[in-house]
Amino acid sequence: MRLDGKSALITGSARGIGRAFAEAFVREGAIVAIADIDLKGAEKVASELHPNAFAVEMDVSDISSIEQAVEVVSQRSGGIDILVNNAAVFDLAPISDITEESFDRVFAINVKGALLTLQAVAEVMKDHRRGGKIINMASQAGRRGEALVAVYCASKAAVISLTQSAGLDLIQYGINVNAISPGVVDGEHWDAVDALFSKYENLPRGEKKRLVGEAVPYGRMGQAEDLVGMATFLASAESAYVVGQTFNVDGGNWMS
Ligand SMILES: NC(=O)c1ccc[n+]([C@@H]2O[C@H](COP(=O)([O-])OP(=O)(O)OC[C@H]3O[C@@H](n4cnc5c(N)ncnc54)[C@H](O)[C@@H]3O)[C@@H](O)[C@H]2O)c1
Repeated sequence: MRLDGKSALITGSARGIGRAFAEAFVREGAIVAIADIDLKGAEKVASELHPNAFAVEMDVSDISSIEQAVEVVSQRSGGIDILVNNAAVFDLAPISDITEESFDRVFAINVKGALLTLQAVAEVMKDHRRGGKIINMASQAGRRGEALVAVYCASKAAVISLTQSAGLDLIQYGINVNAISPGVVDGEHWDAVDALFSKYENLPRGEKKRLVGEAVPYGRMGQAEDLVGMATFLASAESAYVVGQTFNVDGGNWMS
């Protein structure tokens, strides 16, 4: 029970990687707020993890929604010890087809949403004077550009940079800020990515997934559960001396 009695808020945890983190944190003894724009999905996850999880409606692209959700979670759980900035969206287009709308949406959720959520939760952590753990979800896409994925790649590069700056600023309050950089993780997110690639690269559905899975040195795509060990470590007391780092958990795709 490495997170016994801790209060965690995980954005975008109604499905996918966030959901796997919620299940793992509950197993380790935490009370978890399942925060998502998809309230029905969040309520379903919370009911399955009852009584150690509860659902909160939260749109990370809306500052008032962030403030409200953080207040609700803090009141209900007596503070927030762990934040996972996990909510994000993906888009794909060649440079000449990128729209202002797509750029604004991806950056509003993936970058501004992560920063404003981190800010709001860091204030709660500072007020309670018991430190905290903030985990940002980056991506191998933030390590280098990709011809069709410019906006998402740039958003995840920004997450890596924000993790470094916030890590350096907040460690004086005992708040560790670090990030996880997954590679290719199977699930509904990658079903949508595969569909977009099939449109732009003229591939049959499922082919892009097969190709990226084959290319992973480990030999397959990741599963959400593959990321749970790193998330639990970063959320636990064991990571006290780890500051501003981004950890690749990607089956060997990226070396740094
Ligand atoms: N799946 C992968 O291959 C992969 C690879 C690298 C990085 N990542 C990152 O890991 C994280 C989780 O990925 P996933 O595959 O589980 O994604 P996913 O698309 O399956 O889940 C994202 C969740 O975020 C929620 N969400 C979307 N917009 C929101 C908003 N404005 N406010 C609150 N919630 C919102 C969605 O409802 C959904 O529940 C993301 O940050 C993603 O960029 C994923």
